[in-house]
Amino acid sequence: MSTIPLALTGQVALVTGASSGLGRATAQALAQAGADIVLLARGANDLKQVGAEIESVGRRALPLPGDLADEDYILNAVQRTISTFGHIDVLVNAAGFDVPGAVTDLPTSDWDYVVDVNLRAPFLLAKAVFPHMRQARHGTIINVSSVAGKRGWANAAAYCASKFGLTGLTQSLAAEGKAHGIRACILYPGGMATNWGAWGANARQARPENTRPVTKALPSTEVADLIVWMAAAPGELVLNEVVVSPLEEQGWP
Ligand SMILES: NC(=O)c1ccc[n+]([C@@H]2O[C@H](COP(=O)([O-])OP(=O)(O)OC[C@H]3O[C@@H](n4cnc5c(N)ncnc54)[C@H](OP(=O)(O)O)[C@@H]3O)[C@@H](O)[C@H]2O)c1
Repeated sequence: MSTIPLALTGQVALVTGASSGLGRATAQALAQAGADIVLLARGANDLKQVGAEIESVGRRALPLPGDLADEDYILNAVQRTISTFGHIDVLVNAAGFDVPGAVTDLPTSDWDYVVDVNLRAPFLLAKAVFPHMRQARHGTIINVSSVAGKRGWANAAAYCASKFGLTGLTQSLAAEGKAHGIRACILYPGGMATNWGAWGANARQARPENTRPVTKALPSTEVADLIVWMAAAPGELVLNEVVVSPLEEQGWP
């Protein structure tokens, strides 16, 4: 349950990665805060289920399954958002993908796909929603990075590079958006208790060589509430960037 009940009433939020983990929790929390939600991810059944949960709390949901590496899918999703709701107030880029592997072993096609999903898709979505937010003179874009966007580590070059890239994209969006009432924020979570693959808290904890065990990963619902707060914060202030981690990870990177 969002800690800011109904602060987003009448607003429309588009959330990527809404089929699971943080994106799903964020879609639910934004709906609890009053927003209607557009849901993006590949998993059609999961999106349908999340949409039904959102409608059960009295909000409208628009599940649009597809692959964020596909530019046409992204452009169509924003068009459907505007034709259905007439406006877009919040964009949360929570989808993420990784193909682990040493630089020397990583196929170029895998690098391209990770960067397409983690960095190119947030660029394309921001590009498509910006004119609508500019016209409304209001809007908030929240990009979900990672502590991997603060410190690169072995066997994760594509993931780390894409998350570092989100920092530049977000700062450019903030610089271009501020004169138009548009806020751009970046969130760097540490280990979260989701089904995230090789770099998720559970997988990291299981690795014997791990010198930074995560004994309590962040619940995705708590991080989602933080995102709601970022979206619902008074218009005259912006959380430019937020690093949130389990206590055991405090101070890293
Ligand atoms: N878990 C952690 O420890 C952790 C830490 C720091 C940052 N993060 C970041 O937090 C965000 C959420 O991750 P999570 O932990 O919630 O993991 P998750 O449960 O695996 O969620 C990832 C989401 O991204 C979507 N996605 C992946 N590839 C996609 C594609 N090609 N097209 C459309 N959607 C795609 C997935 O949906 P489909 O599979 O249905 O397409 C899913 O909804 C990610 O950006 C991740 O990098 C996670």
